[in-house]
Amino acid sequence: MFPKGFVWGAATSAYQIEGGARADGRGASVWDQFCTAEGAIKGGEAGDTACDHYRRYESDVGLMKSMGLKAYRFSISWPRVMPEGTGAVNPEGMSFYDRLVDRLLEAGIEPWATLFHWDLPLELHRRGGWLNPDSPRWFEEYAGRMVDLLSDRVTHWMTINEPQIFVGLGYGTGVHAPGQKLVFAEQLLIGHRSLLAHGRAVRVIRARAKRLAQVGWAPVGRVGIPITDSRADVEAARRRSMEIDAKAFWNNTWFGDAVCLGRYPEDGLRLFGADAPRVASGDMETIRQPLDYYGVNIYSGEPVRAGDNGEPVGVPRGAGYPQTAFGWTVEPESLYWGPRFLYERYGLPIVITENGLSCFDLVGTDGKVHDPARIDFLTRYLRSLRRAVRDGAKVTGYFQWSLLDNFEWAEGYRQRFGLIFVDFATQERIPKDSAAWYSEVIRTNGGVLGPIDDRPESGTEALRVTVVSGTKPTTRPA
Ligand code: FCB
Repeated sequence: MFPKGFVWGAATSAYQIEGGARADGRGASVWDQFCTAEGAIKGGEAGDTACDHYRRYESDVGLMKSMGLKAYRFSISWPRVMPEGTGAVNPEGMSFYDRLVDRLLEAGIEPWATLFHWDLPLELHRRGGWLNPDSPRWFEEYAGRMVDLLSDRVTHWMTINEPQIFVGLGYGTGVHAPGQKLVFAEQLLIGHRSLLAHGRAVRVIRARAKRLAQVGWAPVGRVGIPITDSRADVEAARRRSMEIDAKAFWNNTWFGDAVCLGRYPEDGLRLFGADAPRVASGDMETIRQPLDYYGVNIYSGEPVRAGDNGEPVGVPRGAGYPQTAFGWTVEPESLYWGPRFLYERYGLPIVITENGLSCFDLVGTDGKVHDPARIDFLTRYLRSLRRAVRDGAKVTGYFQWSLLDNFEWAEGYRQRFGLIFVDFATQERIPKDSAAWYSEVIRTNGGVLGPIDDRPESGTEALRVTVVSGTKPTTRPA
């Protein structure tokens, strides 16, 4: 069973659902601009209207309520509340989040606010963006404003979403906004600044929150999955999950160790060499703030086995192996090993801040949207998560991505991740079969997932929690 009080939610982000790109004094973000670039987004699409949630938020909260959601993770559009990024606030933008939070609370849904889900104000980008040494202060100012506005009602906060992706894709491959291809040292500097921004935001939340705040973040996780339960394969998967093996951001520890342990990991420093950012005195103290939970977005994983010397060796999935519409392999075990390895390393309660899949959903002749593949996928993943809990990983919440079909970044509208189908021509919403199923999962606290599998405790070993210099004391569950 899932623990009592387990947080069942769904997640979205501002640019992906709100629309109202030019409404009521909203400033532009790097995404507004990026979407106008030739070839940047499939089909030349943009988030200008998206799900029109900016105008339809009340009925959307109504849908959440009828699903029985306990919590809703949304992000605040920085340029909507501060059109230039710093200085003047936009009262209408502020009012939107004010009203959204009120409606959520009236509906009995706990708001979980993310401060940064990639939509950097364009004005700040023009001033150098994250390469400007003032950027962490800009973010602190913005975070402070939001805390002043919402912290009498919002008690759950996330600072930044997936630094791995917005840095790597936004400034490395150029596939995401602002579409730059900077040298690796500059990407690492951007990463460092965003971590300083994270730390300053955590501090300002703690200092100014009107009610006791629970603060975390939402990085993405790379999960090694052992192909057998042998001790050697489990150890290889643990290594794969926690190593840095390429000059890139696809790892947990570059950002995770800095945030939770106050240092960049040795293997990364070795590999990145002279590209590594200069860490000024006090930086790591700023970055490493006590967190209440470790949020993580998990969608897939990497099967590995132990090589001759115990090293992780990738095991490719064969032809025809199940995958989502996006082409991501279906790896339910990632919700077992991911939380386990991360809990071991950082000793913080884990919240799955995103998990889900895109399907080729369509409205059937009966006017409904049948999505058995989503129900099957989520059943498998949630069973794994429940097993992780049983085996000692402390997991306190799960947010399904996503509440609504939405604007999936460079993919435009062709990846449907929602529990609720959106007809983008009419804005009609149709809850998919999975929405009704998820309601039952919530109502029964996971009971409908079936009896706990008889699989024995995975790994021939107990959970290893090593709170090296972790941010919160924790007990050894094994
Ligand atoms: C994550 C993002 C989220 C969404 C999902 C599918 O990387 O955080 O906005 O795009 O993937």
